[in-house]
Amino acid sequence: MKVTEAKFVQGFIRMANDGWEQGWHERNGGNLSYRIKKEEVEEVRDELSTEGEWKAIGTSVPKLAGEYFLVTGSGKYFRNVILDPEDTLAIVEIDEAGENYRICWGLVNGGRPTSELPSHLMNHEVKMIASGGTHRVIYHAHPANVIALTFVLPLKDETFTRELWEMATECPVVFPDGIGVVPWMVPGGRDIAVATSELMKQYDVAIWAHHGMFCSGEDFDLTFGLMHTVEKSAEILVKVYSMTGGTKRQTIQPDEFRHLAKDFKVTLPEKFLA
Ligand code: 13P
Ligand code: ZN
Repeated sequence: MKVTEAKFVQGFIRMANDGWEQGWHERNGGNLSYRIKKEEVEEVRDELSTEGEWKAIGTSVPKLAGEYFLVTGSGKYFRNVILDPEDTLAIVEIDEAGENYRICWGLVNGGRPTSELPSHLMNHEVKMIASGGTHRVIYHAHPANVIALTFVLPLKDETFTRELWEMATECPVVFPDGIGVVPWMVPGGRDIAVATSELMKQYDVAIWAHHGMFCSGEDFDLTFGLMHTVEKSAEILVKVYSMTGGTKRQTIQPDEFRHLAKDFKVTLPEKFLA
């Protein structure tokens, strides 16, 4: 089967385009990666090259040895993914040490996988282990309202989680584990990857101060939906702050969250309800 006709590639392209349409991907902003299932690799095996040169990932992901990923290219625009997936995307294979990758398909006009490959792969490794293998998608976007809040709220997991939970009743059900916050760091390297993946051990969402957000999920719908839900909640919070300077006349109370958790069968850590 042609790579571009495979269902997982179609799903990836649709998600990239949905993110573009939301306004989360100015220029080359954001990146997306998908850990390809074994049977999906076999579907497209005929189109995968084994000639690519092995290159250093820049970090170590031993648990991902031999895995294949579909990723966006560095400097590529999300708005172009739907028009030219072979130019904007790549399938990469990880070597047996989990130290190097090689391009097996895509980036036909040259280039390299996203500069955030270390963060994507370290997050994949952590989430694959934490989820028992079910998480396959890591998504980085630049949604404006979440970024705006990183200039206003204290950069604390507890503050972001509680404030965003309060803005929409669905939020504690959609991200019951909460949200982690990474202080401002230089993007693209190992240090920010280590800090983010450390938070991803407990959360499915990590916010990068003054930059953007990372989400992890099982499939394209759940991961896109998670990004969408957090950003929608952030938009409501920005409106509340804009109208009132942050004073809420009424909001959801700790005991109401506890009641919600019981009925919806989720566990909400008490540290976010204090
Ligand atoms: P890439 O174009 O290398 O994916 O970088 C975009 C980005 O958002 C960096 O954080
Ligand atoms: Zn970014």
